[in-house]
Amino acid sequence: MNDLFAAVEQTHGDPRDEIESLRAALHRHNHLYYVKHEPEISDRAFDEMMHRLESLEAAHPLLADPNSPTQRVGNDHAADFAQVAHRRPMLSLANTYNKAEVADFYGRISTALAGEPFEICAEMKYDGLSISLHYENGRLVRALTRGDGDVGDDVTANVRTIRSIPLQLAPGQWPSEFEIRGEVLMPWATFDALNAEREQAGLPLFANPRNAAAGTLKNRKSRAVARRRLDAYLYSLLGDNLPTNAHLDNLEAARDWGFQVGQGMALCHSLDDIFAFIDRMDTARHALPVATDGIVLKVNSHRQQRMLGFTAKCPRWAIAYKFQAEQAATVLREVTFQVGRTGTVTPVANMDPVQLAGTTVRRATLHNADFVAGLDLHENDTVLVEKGGEIIPKIVGVDTSRRQPNAKRIAFATVCPECGAALVRYEGEAAWYCPDQTCCAPQIKGRIEHFISRRAMDINSLGPETIDIYFDKGLIRDAADLYALQVDQLSRGGKRLRSAQRVVDGIAASRQVPFERVLFALGIRFVGEVAAKTLARAFGNIDALRAASFEALCSLNGIGDVIAQSIIEWFEKPENTSLVERLRAHGVQMAVAEADQQPTTNTLGGGAVVVSGVFARHTRDEYKTLIERHGGKNTSAISAKTAFVLAGENMGPAKLEKARRLGVRILGEDEFLALVGEQ
Ligand code: IVH
Repeated sequence: MNDLFAAVEQTHGDPRDEIESLRAALHRHNHLYYVKHEPEISDRAFDEMMHRLESLEAAHPLLADPNSPTQRVGNDHAADFAQVAHRRPMLSLANTYNKAEVADFYGRISTALAGEPFEICAEMKYDGLSISLHYENGRLVRALTRGDGDVGDDVTANVRTIRSIPLQLAPGQWPSEFEIRGEVLMPWATFDALNAEREQAGLPLFANPRNAAAGTLKNRKSRAVARRRLDAYLYSLLGDNLPTNAHLDNLEAARDWGFQVGQGMALCHSLDDIFAFIDRMDTARHALPVATDGIVLKVNSHRQQRMLGFTAKCPRWAIAYKFQAEQAATVLREVTFQVGRTGTVTPVANMDPVQLAGTTVRRATLHNADFVAGLDLHENDTVLVEKGGEIIPKIVGVDTSRRQPNAKRIAFATVCPECGAALVRYEGEAAWYCPDQTCCAPQIKGRIEHFISRRAMDINSLGPETIDIYFDKGLIRDAADLYALQVDQLSRGGKRLRSAQRVVDGIAASRQVPFERVLFALGIRFVGEVAAKTLARAFGNIDALRAASFEALCSLNGIGDVIAQSIIEWFEKPENTSLVERLRAHGVQMAVAEADQQPTTNTLGGGAVVVSGVFARHTRDEYKTLIERHGGKNTSAISAKTAFVLAGENMGPAKLEKARRLGVRILGEDEFLALVGEQ
């Protein structure tokens, strides 16, 4: 038995002492293994200590601790993520794509600092999801996703399963409270294994590790997250009592406290230093275990960062340099055609597998018929494939010198590959469509998937896979069929009763979803969320909308000819009116609720209002509704025309500065509520 474990074994007496020393030892060995990659004990010794701790914790439930090393395996509770305001907004970075733009950035900094010497910290840009971690007294207390930058999702339980993130810091000089930000990633090796597993199981593959990490971090069950083995690299330390006033020194301190800080960071003192770093890293990054998509350059001194400040969205003291997209040559074998929710037919190139930017590429989008014609693609052509910032690789060129003499030109499909209907093309549009909305399976399934999606009916007990299964079993043919589903139909002879009940309950709950979202959920072509809101407010109910003339529709702000025509055509189809009637019969909202119907006052007299920050008494959306109900207009950017800013906690510093500069009034939520008489 390992010495350390033996020492712990001998600790008899108060179980609290043994539990605490086991926890401290396991935290330390976890760090040695997952961050430093220098384990001191065998896996077996580690497991034995873990089992001992598990049994002690099971015997003494009062001594439970969510940050115990035993909690890294997660659990099976389906968690909902609370929305939590960031103490400091999470901004993004301005991008550059060439060295000339980097030189411009360097010049701007030089000028703004009036010739004062400065250092630039150059670091890798990790391609995952940003995360904000809060520590109090050395313990992880909260982990938030970026969300919209002001408010993120509380994913603490999931983050606890990421082994390179310390749950409890070893004693040290860390401030009693601080925040550390970084990127959550799925390592290439894990990603490849996961996709291989999914391929075997016939599940759709993740396009890249970023998507896989995002899907994983939002999983409601932390045990499933633990299995996916995410990793994290941290890149900025924030708080009031940081060890130093320099970015890199603070990160080095954080590394000493147990954090996995980005690799290979360097201080640059000239543009040449920066360019040399970029060139070195563009090669070195291919050996890294995780995806990177560029370099981040940051002014190192916090004092100088403050002098430089922020634009509306980004710090002026930092910039991202994105690497050139990688290209590879391979052979085109076949072009197939995919049918989307609205019937759009997208050509897809199927190619000999080729390694590109860390993944094996077999398929690339060809966008539309014009794109295919533009490339003049022939069977078995040697094509150049590129993977840039976008998820799906694209074909950027053809090596015609290698074309076989009798190769046939690729012809675009004339009939739908799913249902055989003749394809149509609308005037002025690049895409071909399958017009058979009633029989074409991907269109039917796609419409139902859209109907249940988060911004539409938000039925999160269902997903695309379940829709597929129910459709294939013949249980559903349109969205209204969902409301007729019974638990016993879904529970496979008594098995999975609970999940079937959850599905049925989730569907039933969607009867409360407001009319404007129902209207969006119907999937009328060109009627997005904003148009649906406008139409719901203007007409109040589905019957009035159905009866509306082309002119009446077009008279609304944001509703043009194309949307108006599409609405009229939608209601002309009997299958659509019958869908509406059946949804109505199932109790789905087909009218705006009384309380939401009209602006109650015109107190705000059409004035433009910007809502910013996080609020205590109502949500941001509720405030936007109140503004409209009292005759105001919601706008996003502050300008001289802004009537006032409704500011909550954590309003972005750039917005605040702009409002002050333009002399725009800033109202707190109490003042606003008093103004509109809603107190
Ligand atoms: S600093 C004020 N450093 O890139 C913005 N970001 O495009 C501070 N990212 O949202 C971000 N590696 O998620 C910073 N070394 C790094 C980074 C990095 C990846 C991500 C981050 C950010 C996004 C901006």
